[in-house]
This record gives sequence, structure tokens and C-alpha cells, in this order.
Amino acid sequence: EMCIRDGPEGGEMRVLIGGMPFFIRHRTSVEIEAAALVNVESLPDPQSDEERLSPLPDGSFNPAILVTSGSCTHLGCIPVGPAQGDMGDYGGWYCPCHGSHYDTSGRIRKGPAPKNLPVPNYEYVSNAIIRIKL
Ligand code: FES
Repeated sequence: EMCIRDGPEGGEMRVLIGGMPFFIRHRTSVEIEAAALVNVESLPDPQSDEERLSPLPDGSFNPAILVTSGSCTHLGCIPVGPAQGDMGDYGGWYCPCHGSHYDTSGRIRKGPAPKNLPVPNYEYVSNAIIRIKL
């Protein structure tokens, strides 16, 4: 379980659970808007931003928080992001191993990775606490 209030807006928390990396990104309003404005049909792995979120206890969504796997879907490197000062060409994450660019929803946009950064099975225990289930 993690308290997601700790993460500053525009930054992310990186956690290891069972040896697997996960990103918990606290998105800015500009990043949320960028994720929502994408034409989903044009994506290599079509998924809307909302499909990649889990609901709060009251059933609504908090688009400020995005939870994804931290393993590049190409060969499993850990992409860099806001903390490393490189978010790639689409403002999300960049995998320097072979040049994959992910957007602010963690969706693959450019490079050899075939799939979006997977969204783990997680739930909101409260508005401020999530539980990632492996
Ligand atoms: Fe990320 Fe190859 S492992 S681009």
C-alpha cells in the first residue's frame, strides 16, 4: 500500500514490489490534457487514458494519478522519466535502451516497444492510498 499524497505534482514515485518496478505518476493538468486529447485509433496499442485508471472508492476517477509498470515492453529496461529529466518526445517516459517513447498515459508512441506500459491490478483503499496487487 502506498500513500499517493507524498508525490509532488509533475513527479513520480518509483517502487519495487516483488522485485518488479512500478511508477506512480502525479500528473500535471497539462499532462492529463495531453493524454486525453490523443486520437486513440492512431495509437500502436489503442487505449484511452480513462481505461488506464482505476476508480476511487466513490466510483469517480482521479486522472492526476497514473499507475503503471516500470518495465519497458520491448526488452524490460526501466525507462527514465521526470526524476531523470528526460520524459521523451511525448512527455511521459523514455527508454534509453533502444529508444522507446511513452506518452503521459504510459502509452507507446515511438520506438521498438510493442505495447503500452502495463497498468497493474491496483485499487484505491481510500482517496489517498492505493494497493497494488500482484
Ligand atoms: Fe526499452 Fe528496448 S528495452 S526500448
